[in-house]
Amino acid sequence: MTAEIRESTAPRHARILGIGAYRPSRVVPNAEVIEAIDSSDEWIQQRSGIKQRRWASPEESVQMMSVAASRQALERAGVDASEVDCVVVATVSHLLQTPAIATAIAHELGTDQAAAFDISAACAGFCHGIALASDMVRGGSATNVLVIGVERLTDLLDLHDRGTAFIFADGAGAALVGASDVAGIGPVVWGSDGEQFDLIRQKEDWRDVVGTPALPGSGVMPHLVMQGNPVFRWASFAMAKTAHQALERAGLKAEDLDVFVPHQANMRIIDAMARAMKLPDHVKIARDIAEQGNTSAASIPLALDRMIEDGEAKSGDLALLIAFGAGLAYAAQVVTVP
Ligand SMILES: CC(C)(COP(=O)(O)OP(=O)(O)OC[C@H]1O[C@@H](n2cnc3c(N)ncnc32)[C@H](O)[C@@H]1OP(=O)(O)O)[C@@H](O)C(=O)NCCC(=O)NCCS
Repeated sequence: MTAEIRESTAPRHARILGIGAYRPSRVVPNAEVIEAIDSSDEWIQQRSGIKQRRWASPEESVQMMSVAASRQALERAGVDASEVDCVVVATVSHLLQTPAIATAIAHELGTDQAAAFDISAACAGFCHGIALASDMVRGGSATNVLVIGVERLTDLLDLHDRGTAFIFADGAGAALVGASDVAGIGPVVWGSDGEQFDLIRQKEDWRDVVGTPALPGSGVMPHLVMQGNPVFRWASFAMAKTAHQALERAGLKAEDLDVFVPHQANMRIIDAMARAMKLPDHVKIARDIAEQGNTSAASIPLALDRMIEDGEAKSGDLALLIAFGAGLAYAAQVVTVP
């Protein structure tokens, strides 16, 4: 008889046990970015809703910000770092190709040699991480998974690019996902549309920038570029449908929701999605973009943390998360606020 693999764990539920955030100390108002892009505070606020953003100092590295956000998430969850058995970091702006920054973060936090890896799903990265963490906890391959969304997009920013310089920013958010008696993370609805691969991207390949031994490059950092208009249309309409599907998959209706936390890309996209989804008035909507800019993978945990801090989101509330961005990649799920 052929031997069979033995399952060592029974399926269980997962939920977010704690959220943490790190916002860089330097606040950058629109006035500081407008000259280089021939813009105005009024134009930026009207087109994007952004009033200010935070940009990291040299000391506020991807690792430093991640560790700070993670420590807060762990403290709020009441879980010691030694109990974390997996660290997942969603980022596109850790500029050392290998090893994964997650390993250094896991070590600095004091985990007991947790599994650690990075994922690249741009602005959708945090929701991808939550989906993976939920499945890991439910499937039994991990007990406490730390999901971190972190960016230092200023390293990839062309301050003279009118389409991106005022949008992107820095920061880190973290969520500890652990076991639960009841379902605290709904099924993920996710996907990608690679036909639109070029809409948001790193403009230059590293080899074109740095060169190869045979062919030295330009020595100039690669930059993020974006075709704002098609991204705007895709996000405003297609993503509202995805958000609806995430609700349906969780067996919920819009009126069951307490909180809506879409990726903080643009205030007009947030408003368009809320309208398309016909969200009832009682649903509180994250609008962190005004103060924080677009922090890509960090935007959802930062926005949720802000709502918890401000008393807009309470423990036990049902929150719909939806993240979308370069790829184009997207992911959405309903979670219970810790
Ligand atoms: C970037 C964005 C705010 C630009 O707004 P827009 O309305 O699409 O702007 P357009 O590129 O069509 O340009 C409209 C006008 O504003 C001007 N303009 C463009 N950028 C400008 C700037 N930074 N400041 C002032 N004027 C600007 C253009 O020259 C154009 O002028 P014209 O009408 O005289 O030709 C918008 O496209 C957007 O938010 N897209 C989605 C971005 C996003 O969410 N990205 C992240 C996804 S993860």
